Amino acid sequence: MLELQLKPEEFALFRKYIYEKVGISLSDQKTTLVKGRLNKRVNQLGLTSFKEYYHYLIDDETGDELTFFVSAISTNVTSFFRETSQWTWLQGYLPQLATAKKEKKIRIWSAGCSSGEEPYTILMFLQNHLHDFESWDIKILATDISSKVLSRAIAGTYESKQVEQLPKDMVLKSFEKIKVDNEVKYQIKPFLKNKVLFRLYNLITDPFFFKNQFDMIFCRNVMIYFDDSNRHELIGKYTKLLPKGAPLFLGSSESLTTHRDSLKLLGSSIYQRL
Ligand SMILES: C[S@@+](CC[C@H](N)C(=O)[O-])C[C@H]1O[C@@H](n2cnc3c(N)ncnc32)[C@H](O)[C@@H]1O
Repeated sequence: MLELQLKPEEFALFRKYIYEKVGISLSDQKTTLVKGRLNKRVNQLGLTSFKEYYHYLIDDETGDELTFFVSAISTNVTSFFRETSQWTWLQGYLPQLATAKKEKKIRIWSAGCSSGEEPYTILMFLQNHLHDFESWDIKILATDISSKVLSRAIAGTYESKQVEQLPKDMVLKSFEKIKVDNEVKYQIKPFLKNKVLFRLYNLITDPFFFKNQFDMIFCRNVMIYFDDSNRHELIGKYTKLLPKGAPLFLGSSESLTTHRDSLKLLGSSIYQRL
């Protein structure tokens, strides 16, 4: 494989394009990472320089190469019941939400849902902790910029090592055990999957078309690559989509230094709309 050089002017082209397209802010320190992660791809495509690859990327109208690029330089890492303390908090909050509701209707947004573990966790959690779960009209909007992870989320099929760490009764209620190429896998049951609306959605460039507010928003471990300006703008938009008292969940390593007049920190990267 040809070891290509990533020139500063080439890196600058990628940086500008990726910032404008997905809001990911690549610092100079990321030069080695971009070079390392994309060298193989450029070779695979039979191209001979990063400049050629840049043109390949911007000319690709399908958006697939952008997905590839974003996946290569960022992470889609996720898991069921990630950030344990947030679920403990939610357990205490849920009765309050259920009592306050005039209609038995819950709307939640999992923004940056990756391969689906987060929206399905929300459903498993509600199934276990929301009194009279079946009688509620529950819809989760689950969005991601990557078509690759979204198709895995829609398939809803997971490795046994991911699922077997969940409580046994939860697995029984929520998954079908299936065999794929002689290997045991777990597929989320249709009655849960039908409550999720999966959509390809870019949080930075796509318009916020939402007519109604959400009862809670999860945007965990997504904004880590965004700069302050994009983060600020996005949080402002989330704020408008949350009614008073509703929670916004961020990743445990993320904290807000802005929007103090509209969002209050409750702990564990959970913010409440004031
Ligand atoms: C590390 S995963 C987090 C998944 C899940 N929220 C969690 O905490 O386990 C981050 C996800 O954000 C998505 N993402 C990154 N930039 C995005 C953007 N501009 N719009 C929408 N999704 C984005 C990535 O594709 C990735 O799947």
